[in-house]
Amino acid sequence: MAQAITTQQREQLLQAAREVMLRAYAPYSKFRVGSAILTSTGEIFVGCNVENASYGMTNCAERTAIFSAVAKSGPKLEIVAVAVVNDQGVPCSPCGACRQVIYEFGPDATIFFQDKNGQAEAHITTLLPEGFRLE
Ligand code: THU
Repeated sequence: MAQAITTQQREQLLQAAREVMLRAYAPYSKFRVGSAILTSTGEIFVGCNVENASYGMTNCAERTAIFSAVAKSGPKLEIVAVAVVNDQGVPCSPCGACRQVIYEFGPDATIFFQDKNGQAEAHITTLLPEGFRLE
């Protein structure tokens, strides 16, 4: 069962995502994204999208946040929740690549994002059934 997230934790996570979104490097898509992750130790790490002239090299906000967390705190990362926001107020859930990366560190994570009806939340395995694991 996914760990319960309080309203306060969710709002804090969304606010952190909104703040880091402003630092996005998105000159090509002009679509700025921010993400914040809550870890099992209660820490919050943030990331924004970083694009490249070679478009495929772009790093999404979610993966930036996760890779920053590992760089800062090491490989024992356990993700409890992920928030993602964008500067256009449109639906935006993590892309397929990011879902797999979230699953690696948060197989029981809750994801907060915007869908067509507004603010939404979903379990990572709803977004990514049969995520890949090397056991
Ligand atoms: N993007 C993210 O950072 N996260 C998502 O969940 C969806 C897409 C970025 C990648 C690219 O810089 C821009 O949004 C447009 O695709």
